[in-house]
Amino acid sequence: MASLKTTVAGIALDCCIYNASGPRTGTVNALVKIGESRSGAVLSKSATLLCQDGNPLPRYKEFPLGDACPGSINSEGLPNQGIDYYISEEVVSAIGSLAKHYFVSLSGLSLADNLEMLSRAMKVQGIAAIELNLACPNIPGKPTMAYDFEQMDAVLQAVTTHPSFGSKPLGVKLAPYFDVPHFQRAASILNKYPIKYVVCTNTIGNALVVDAENEQALIKPKAGFGGLGGAYVKPIALANVRQFSQLLREDIDVVGVGGVASGTDAFELILCGAKAVQVGTKHWSEGASCFNRISEELSVLMTKKGYKSIEEFRGKLKENF
Ligand code: DOR
Repeated sequence: MASLKTTVAGIALDCCIYNASGPRTGTVNALVKIGESRSGAVLSKSATLLCQDGNPLPRYKEFPLGDACPGSINSEGLPNQGIDYYISEEVVSAIGSLAKHYFVSLSGLSLADNLEMLSRAMKVQGIAAIELNLACPNIPGKPTMAYDFEQMDAVLQAVTTHPSFGSKPLGVKLAPYFDVPHFQRAASILNKYPIKYVVCTNTIGNALVVDAENEQALIKPKAGFGGLGGAYVKPIALANVRQFSQLLREDIDVVGVGGVASGTDAFELILCGAKAVQVGTKHWSEGASCFNRISEELSVLMTKKGYKSIEEFRGKLKENF
């Protein structure tokens, strides 16, 4: 049988498929369900310093694209229990008892909040790595940090020189980019800092989906503008994974996320260079069993193609026709 083993930031994972931060990641029960599935790791909801309710409902909707995979739009606004919950003994030991690596996502509302959360999380045993989310598009009045290159540079400088930095690998979750100079600029900033992985990509921010029957936006917050995910974003995720795997230092791993609903979707992201693949929208609609199904489908596809490990085809997208 084909092996789905991989490493992210030097951390060995039995399976290269795991959850994206966001859907079904807010509580210990949800995180344990992920840990009990075939998911290769468990990643928390992006935490803020304090617990918050997020934006008003309705703030998440799915809408169709073809038969199998939905698209999604959300403006959750980071509803979460606060950092102290995600790094608590209760949560860390529940995931540890399932023998899964636990990754904690941080999305502070300010640099000071990010530094405070980082210093708390870095101290906790049983957390394998920290994923700094620089790409939440849904906080009213706040820009997407990964689109402001000067701010991104300053944040990474502050985070990686903070006294608490260094005991755990740091990953950065990026916004989707659409222009070659932007890929190059982002990569040149990321390459300056001792980060270990990037995640490509967060949702496409500030999309608008219209419900024609009711003549209104599909979701309520931010006048209907929200992050587009699911099947609509897969080509964007593929492009971002491909670009960053070619532009980043060799020791920075690229994790792909965006529109993965099947083993073939995961295969495509790995072909573009991803060392692991996260699942967001499909986890929301299908639940944690999606990790078993997608892993199985990837394994069957690899066997059919004669691949025994993901390294045999990772990054080897053919460019000649
Ligand atoms: O689309 C997103 N929704 N991306 C994030 O980073 C956060 C999330 C939310 O809570 O709004």
